[in-house]
Amino acid sequence: TPYAAGCLLLGYGLGSIPFGLILTKFAGLGDVRAIGSGNIGATNVLRTGRKGLAAATLLGDALKGTAAVLLARQFGEGPALAAGLGAFLGHLFPVWLGFKGGKGVATFIGVLLALSPLAVAAFAAIWLGLAFTLKYSSLAALAASAATPLVLWALHRPAEALLFLALGLLLWLKHAPNIRRLLDGSEGRIGQKG
Ligand code: G3P
Repeated sequence: TPYAAGCLLLGYGLGSIPFGLILTKFAGLGDVRAIGSGNIGATNVLRTGRKGLAAATLLGDALKGTAAVLLARQFGEGPALAAGLGAFLGHLFPVWLGFKGGKGVATFIGVLLALSPLAVAAFAAIWLGLAFTLKYSSLAALAASAATPLVLWALHRPAEALLFLALGLLLWLKHAPNIRRLLDGSEGRIGQKG
């Protein structure tokens, strides 16, 4: 348990690095929170029109979660899961940004990658299928994240399934404004600028 607590903190530290905010600032685009949805994630960075920066944001926000789990794994599977939880919480609630962080999609995928690449493949299949047909990044992520605990359960990974049930609930809560916009038809589609 002391290892798990330390790994939770390590994960939180890594997870709280806001790649979208940092990359757009360095690119001279100002504060990404002033455009589009106001979010710091890759979907909103894409609304600046800079695809490369959006891809780098997705990669950075994902791989910080992967790194947290891999670093913690040397202390055991429990600490590895704690680090993944910490990274996700760090991304959603970074102390540096007054606890106002991102919505968690990239970090969800990154933590999952370290635990079950097969589950990431399922996530990607659902996300890509919905994103290319319906053009809503948020809807694609909501569906793929809801399916993930079931996929992990089917893969006989009950501890991971439970963790991703919790992460999925937080992700859905963070997407409350997106869900409202999807229901009233005002959600922005992929490819529209903010
Ligand atoms: O699920 C993608 C999510 O991050 C949506 O972002 O910027 O459209 O609120 P945004």
